[in-house]
Amino acid sequence: MVKICCLGAGYVGGPTMAVIAYKCPEIEVVVVDISTARIDAWNSDRLPIYEPGLDDVVEGCRGRNLFFSTDIEKHVADSDIIFVSVNTPTKTRGLGAGKAADLTYWESAARMIADVSKSDKIVVEKSTVPVKTAEAIEKILTHNSKGVNFQILSNPEFLAEGTAIADLFSPDRVLIGGRETVEGRKAVETLKSVYANWVPEDRIITTNLWSAELSKLAANAFLAQRISSVNAMSALCEATGANISEVAYAVGKDSRIGSKFLNASVGFGGSCFQKDILNLIYICECNGLTEVSDYWKQVIKINDYQKSRFVNRIVSSMFNTVSGKKIAVLGFAFKKDTGDTRETPAIDVCKGLIGDRAQINIYDPQVTEDQIQRDLAMNKFDWDHPLHLQPMSPTAVKQVRVCWDVYEATKDAHGVCILTEWDEFKKLDFQKIYNNMQKPAFVFDGRNVVDAEKLRKIGFIVYMIGKPL
Ligand code: NAD
Ligand code: UGA
Repeated sequence: MVKICCLGAGYVGGPTMAVIAYKCPEIEVVVVDISTARIDAWNSDRLPIYEPGLDDVVEGCRGRNLFFSTDIEKHVADSDIIFVSVNTPTKTRGLGAGKAADLTYWESAARMIADVSKSDKIVVEKSTVPVKTAEAIEKILTHNSKGVNFQILSNPEFLAEGTAIADLFSPDRVLIGGRETVEGRKAVETLKSVYANWVPEDRIITTNLWSAELSKLAANAFLAQRISSVNAMSALCEATGANISEVAYAVGKDSRIGSKFLNASVGFGGSCFQKDILNLIYICECNGLTEVSDYWKQVIKINDYQKSRFVNRIVSSMFNTVSGKKIAVLGFAFKKDTGDTRETPAIDVCKGLIGDRAQINIYDPQVTEDQIQRDLAMNKFDWDHPLHLQPMSPTAVKQVRVCWDVYEATKDAHGVCILTEWDEFKKLDFQKIYNNMQKPAFVFDGRNVVDAEKLRKIGFIVYMIGKPL
């Protein structure tokens, strides 16, 4: 029986390994983590992450061939294939701070693997890492090896949160990069045979290590660039009377461009787009490619511009001040169908409104009050460095109330601000909301989910992204 161990029981390690175990009953999969709380949650009825379909998959194989444990060294020593899916956040201090990837977690994982391994291992980079990381990992492993051989593979993950299970069941592609040696090719074939249990052969791409590492950064950069492109157009639509939905539809009909991922929004969020582009920018700079790094910087600049443009629109529409006004924020997660708030645009929008002294009531069906307060008190880039958690700012806490009901959140509000595209926001009783709000009642839809004409008929003043007023 092949034994797999995965370091990191997070948004990637947990679902990815659960699907491997589910699809390959003959493989034993153990997911380990340094966080006891996370492992306890994976072993409980309330999993640590909200992801549609995940409960059923875990239930189908936990205790059969899927296990969650904190006994890291034992399971690493026992396994044949070790996936490393630890966090790789942006560095907050030292060389490359604010751009480069912080590989502290990865390096300590590699040192531990070298230390405890008594048999040959395939070590798989599942985390998103800078191109050439495998070379560094290889050095750490071989220089600390106790006479065993390590083969390093790059197998980046392309799942999106909210659709992780569907993405893992039927991936557009699985990418495996390895050394172009006999041993390297053998390791690639071994990992390929795991995925071949459910992924068609023509969707499993094999490349050299550096292509696999760079393809992951490139894919995220291309995806984020699409959103910044459509968001840049949305600003021009607002200035000219064009409608971004019509423009995106017309543009996306060109089969060379395609219709997906063209929804204008308050800006992209999530733990990876910004982090991975910053990482790409840093690599370009280190290679002297200033023009290339400047090109990718613009994707992040437009995203920041879109978020501040949204805040400015709220403040200027509400007679240039929101001081003391109540604003209901609907949705805090970075996208629907997840409770993840990492780099959510809601943080920047709420901080902007708090800065203008608004009182905000926040409602999100999947995000806890604790999480929201922590996010609003934290400095940029600190969220993924658990050791650097900042204390909560007392002013921010005072101005924020977290509600568990939309109607409670919107009661007596001067404005409603939609920041996540939860399906339930499309079905709200807006007449009831309007009746209980201060007048004039404003709606600022940062996700273009409401029927603006219907709301205007009720009496709302409605602002959508990239659409005529
Ligand atoms: P996460 O923070 O949810 O999970 C990482 C886990 O690793 C944490 O639980 C942490 O405690 C654990 N960890 C850290 N050091 C460890 C060690 N030495 N041994 C064992 N466990 C350790 O992060 P994530 O969202 O799962 O992302 C992981 C990687 O995957 C990142 O590089 C990210 O860029 C990449 N990625 C994420 C997504 C996504 O949708 N979240 C998608 C594709 C790729
Ligand atoms: C993204 C990629 O889609 C995954 O392929 C990749 O594996 C992952 O990053 C990663 O490396 O972490 P994810 O961030 O989970 O996945 O979610 P997306 O669906 O890509 O959405 C990212 C952000 O862009 C969200 O805030 C979303 O609301 C926003 N978005 C997305 C738009 O504003 N408009 C769109 O048309 C699409």
